[in-house]
Amino acid sequence: MKIAVLKEMAPGESRCAAIPETVKKFVGLGADVAVESGAGASASISDDEFAAAGASLGSRADILNGAGIILCVAGPDPSGLAGGAPGALLIGALDPAGRSEAVQGYAGAGLDAFAMEWMPRITRAQSMDILSSQSNLAGYKAVVDAAAAYGRAFPMMMTAAGTVSPAKVFVMGVGVAGLQAIATARRMGAQVSATDVRSATKEQIQSLGAKAIFVENVAGIEGEGQGGYAGEMSDEYKKAQAELVSSHIAKQDIVITTALIPGRPAPRLVSDAQLATMRPGSVIIDLAAGAGGNVEGCRADQLTEIHGVKVIGASNLARSLPADSSALFARNLFNFLSAFWDKDAGAPVLPDEDEIVRGICLTHGGKIVHERLAS
Ligand code: NAI
Repeated sequence: MKIAVLKEMAPGESRCAAIPETVKKFVGLGADVAVESGAGASASISDDEFAAAGASLGSRADILNGAGIILCVAGPDPSGLAGGAPGALLIGALDPAGRSEAVQGYAGAGLDAFAMEWMPRITRAQSMDILSSQSNLAGYKAVVDAAAAYGRAFPMMMTAAGTVSPAKVFVMGVGVAGLQAIATARRMGAQVSATDVRSATKEQIQSLGAKAIFVENVAGIEGEGQGGYAGEMSDEYKKAQAELVSSHIAKQDIVITTALIPGRPAPRLVSDAQLATMRPGSVIIDLAAGAGGNVEGCRADQLTEIHGVKVIGASNLARSLPADSSALFARNLFNFLSAFWDKDAGAPVLPDEDEIVRGICLTHGGKIVHERLAS
């Protein structure tokens, strides 16, 4: 089995779908690994390191020639994938919801495409979950970026010249990214509070030493939708949440928003009027910027100053830590493939009826097969 690792072509994509460690492990399973020259450069991995781990290096045409598995981070243009073995697997963050034409192209090219972001949230798949591994890093980096943009210090400092007050950080949306943001802000000495619609997060917030800010006494406050994700909230809840946030946000220095609802635009959590109540120089990092944003007026991948507040739209912060995000992403891919690897066949065997395979397989036998893509 030949595994091809593509050099990423998408603008701004700095990650790589393999690292020397996963190359070695694939070689250990009996696979041949071919890495496109320069694929690891932006993640600080040289061609020599890949070669030392047992990979061959070459042009895109070289590495695709006869490949049975193609690994990528962002979904590539289908036209650049000729040369793979018939029925080759294409595995990466293929963005099936946003790139339906490309998915059609993968089917047309006879590729079996697997979208890792649709990995089911079950215990068995935790080590394969790219959303978790990348969100964790994004949550950390959001706090670091906020600290860099903030013209004041995070921790309280008692100095001979007077006291520096601690920064007040408010995290909205306490999934994987939010939890890491809370932990990072606490480590940096900030006073941290957080909110979510899922009541299960209250205990998690408190266990990290932060204050939980929650809507109480409104119908449907459990907030839990399918698969551990949030659902859309009632109008009554949204009104109560807006009132609660309004009184809290005016006293905050840094706000990190991470709220997402699968398959829908990101919920609006901070209005222009609420921004106007914040102290000038405050910073907001909106990690949901790529999904429409949690903050009114926020623009993806830009810093916008609104009422003196720096609003930073961060659509993919994991990309700004390419060495670590590549390592975790590459291990997620290896963990997926190795879980299905058949030693005798020297290849993965992916049964249609398996919950993981059903969750992420988009195309098979020249057709789109995923139920969420059926038109
Ligand atoms: P996400 O990225 O979909 O959303 C981020 C957070 O925003 C969530 O906590 C969500 O409840 C919150 N949110 C949505 N609407 C909101 C609103 N209007 N106001 C405030 N907050 C709002 O979530 P993520 O990080 O992917 O995690 C979701 C859940 O899945 C978590 O419970 C996590 O522990 C669980 N999980 C389970 C895994 C597994 O079992 N394999 C793997 C990863 C996560």
